[in-house]
Amino acid sequence: MNVAALAIAAALAVGAPAAAPASPAAAAPDCTVTDATMTWGFKESFRSYISGTIANGEWTVADGTTYETPDFGWANGTGQISDGVGQIAFTGSIEFTGHGGILDTTVTNPRLVLDGSSRATLLLDVSGTTQQGADVDEKSVPFASVDISVAEFGDGTVTITAAPTVLTEAGSAAFGTYEAGETLDPITAQLSADPACTIAPVGGPGLAGAIWLGIGSVLAIVVITVELVLWRRRSAQEPGA
Ligand code: HEM
Repeated sequence: MNVAALAIAAALAVGAPAAAPASPAAAAPDCTVTDATMTWGFKESFRSYISGTIANGEWTVADGTTYETPDFGWANGTGQISDGVGQIAFTGSIEFTGHGGILDTTVTNPRLVLDGSSRATLLLDVSGTTQQGADVDEKSVPFASVDISVAEFGDGTVTITAAPTVLTEAGSAAFGTYEAGETLDPITAQLSADPACTIAPVGGPGLAGAIWLGIGSVLAIVVITVELVLWRRRSAQEPGA
């Protein structure tokens, strides 16, 4: 991870916009994202339900979000990217309504967070009422997990085509109805940046991989320790020991 990636990761960790590295001597490239776009259908079966005879509803887009069957669309995303670490923010809202207004859920300002691993996180602000009738008004919900192993990095662009996307625990809690892991529509996104910033993440297993590696190591140590204790007990119980 280079200096710019570290600066972006640090800024993401404290929830602040990415700041330039403190030392001008570091001369990191400007990794500001340009021309970022994203398309996502949310969930095809939900759109069918909303526009069908059961909910008799509709969706309304505003403030920078568009809709062209079968996808919602966003452009002019802003953010930072370096070595596969960054955040791209889009503006606008989708309001789903149905059942004469009983169903009224709005998702706003999608942000795609890349942490250098093969999974990105889609953050959404979620407000409305769940199917169970609970009121929701939450900012920056880590709504969906996006498999970006399909991403192509290089030449000043990052292209993510039809990345498989699933609902997270937090997304399930905020939206209701669907369980975590429920398949959502795939996400397609593209961005441009200085070519020095659009290189693929290198080395290491990525954050998710590192966590699994850590869990695996702890488990291995526990198993070996238990085996050793059992072996010593068996040895002690053997006649003549
Ligand atoms: C008058 C109140 C409501 C009624 C009578 C109702 C009825 C239904 C029915 C019958 C289905 C099954 C549709 C199918 O199998 O094709 C359904 C699905 C669903 N409902 Fe509602 N619902 C109500 C309110 C809500 C509210 C407030 C929400 C909040 C978001 C909601 C979200 C959903 C979702 C996400 C599905 C699954 C759609 C899918 O992917 O197939 N419903 N509802």
